Amino acid sequence: MRILVTGGTGYIGSHTVVELINNGYDVVVIDNFSNSKPIVLDKLKEITGKEIKFYEMDLCDSEKLREVFKKEDIDAVIHFAGYKAVGESVSKPLMYYRNNIDSTLSLLEVMSEFNIKKIVFSSSATVYGDPEKLPIKEDAKLSTTNPYGSTKLYIEGILKDLYVSDNTWSIAILRYFNPVGAHKSGLIGEDPNGIPNNLMPYIVKVANKELPSLNIFGNDYDTSDGTGVRDYIHITDLANGHIKAIDYVINNVGIDCYNLGTGTGYSVLEMVNAFKKTNKVEVPYNIVGRRDGDIAACYADPNYAYEKLGFKAEYGLDEMVESAFNYAIKNSKK
Ligand code: WQD
Repeated sequence: MRILVTGGTGYIGSHTVVELINNGYDVVVIDNFSNSKPIVLDKLKEITGKEIKFYEMDLCDSEKLREVFKKEDIDAVIHFAGYKAVGESVSKPLMYYRNNIDSTLSLLEVMSEFNIKKIVFSSSATVYGDPEKLPIKEDAKLSTTNPYGSTKLYIEGILKDLYVSDNTWSIAILRYFNPVGAHKSGLIGEDPNGIPNNLMPYIVKVANKELPSLNIFGNDYDTSDGTGVRDYIHITDLANGHIKAIDYVINNVGIDCYNLGTGTGYSVLEMVNAFKKTNKVEVPYNIVGRRDGDIAACYADPNYAYEKLGFKAEYGLDEMVESAFNYAIKNSKK
């Protein structure tokens, strides 16, 4: 079975490529390196022992995309490619709508032309907005508070309409909670350009003395210690969730959404303390005001993904914080 992975040199895409190969799949990767680096391909070869078949291109270029589908005998697609910075999406909404939606429409049109109708789509728990009830189930109310989240919600709608028009499609929509950590080899991991927006890569840079201290955005939320609570999931667990999903879409038709989370929420302070204790490092921090758009708590009910896909996260907090720091040490820019 040959899987086309769009955005396959990115953080989640690259870890999924490793697990696809580990599970006997052939892989073809498309990426334009807008949020990743070519060296990731070398690291993937080092980890898997396989040369990764790769096309540097933009998904919006339908002509080039057709060439790939003509050359490669694709059976199914995992679609990661897209811009993903919440803050940037607020300041550049048109760039986000143009890129994330156009690229997906281009992909779905070319897939249809080649009668390839099996896709796993990279969505996000951000489509739940500020949840009314915790833990969050897949049938929870959907609402978004930023253009990035809206692109994910709109693409979910496009996929649902596509299925209604042609029920021979097989579509799995995966709603990620908070991916963290890195492959056990330390060769691939989360490598954001510039100052990280997300908590874990920021903690890593502070621990690695690339940044002076962490700002904790608010400690007056209605949570155990007042800091924000999230459902952090190890990146390798997340990657394996995609293997379960691609196995399912290859052998079935239909459309469904699945939470990929652990079902356990940890606060910012719990993450900081776990990181310090496990890695035996200091992480200086200051408590500052809340970040616009942040919610108090968000964590998954993971049971549907287990019941239908057989997916269950296995890695705990220690492996998450240890693997994140291990990657940073091995790839330090200091
Ligand atoms: C986690 C917690 C912050 C940074 C975002 C996107 C979401 C998804 C995952 C793509 C919160 C606190 C953070 C810092 C802090 N991305 N924090 N200081 O906001 O839950 O989700 O990334 O799909 O779409 O919205 O993740 O890591 O930014 O924040 O105190 O420097 O850490 O307030 O409580 P978030 P995050």
